[in-house]
Amino acid sequence: MKFFIDTANLAHIEEANDLGILDGVTTNPSLMAKEGIKGEANILKHYADICALVDGDVSAEVLSTDYVSMVEEGKKLAAIHKNIVVKIPMIKDGIKAIKWFTDNGIRTNCTLVFSAGQAILAAKAGAAYVSPFIGRIDDSSWDGIALIEQLAHIFSVQGFNTEILAASIRNPLHIVRSAEAGAHICTCPLDSILGLLKHPLTDIGLAKFLEDAKKM
Ligand code: G3P
Repeated sequence: MKFFIDTANLAHIEEANDLGILDGVTTNPSLMAKEGIKGEANILKHYADICALVDGDVSAEVLSTDYVSMVEEGKKLAAIHKNIVVKIPMIKDGIKAIKWFTDNGIRTNCTLVFSAGQAILAAKAGAAYVSPFIGRIDDSSWDGIALIEQLAHIFSVQGFNTEILAASIRNPLHIVRSAEAGAHICTCPLDSILGLLKHPLTDIGLAKFLEDAKKM
């Protein structure tokens, strides 16, 4: 399973990249706004800065919601760097735009996916990635991991090339369960990635080894 970091924060991206396990980055308008990135020029520059930091796919989301504007906006985003993947919302015009990008050799990530039917449409349109939001599904008392399992099954029996990108990860267990359920990629906040390191028995064991090492 590949690891993406879900942030527009450059320090977080650098820290995850330093671990040597980072395969890419996803962003969204909320994450960009959180970093205070405003105006088209600054937005495009921020994506270029992220691409310079990480050797992997970087999802950059369109802000338009009609087909023609999404295509125009996505073309500009894709021109920033070869690793940019245009992130498109799961709406009717979004599916048309994904198909246009597929036909024109530009990779897409279909975002805001909450059902198998939505994911099938995105895969049929040729999206490189579909992003089921498992945390938000859990928030509404449905089962986010069950959707990952269902998509893994459907994509496998149908032979879809689209990769399942588990998004809206809220904790390290979401990462483990997504891996188990067959997600191809997990995109996670830095805290959830670092949370995978933690186990109290590791801390206790290391303290004991270091104490005993003084007697060596
Ligand atoms: O990748 C989508 C993700 O950023 C949404 O996460 O925590 O806002 O549901 P969250």
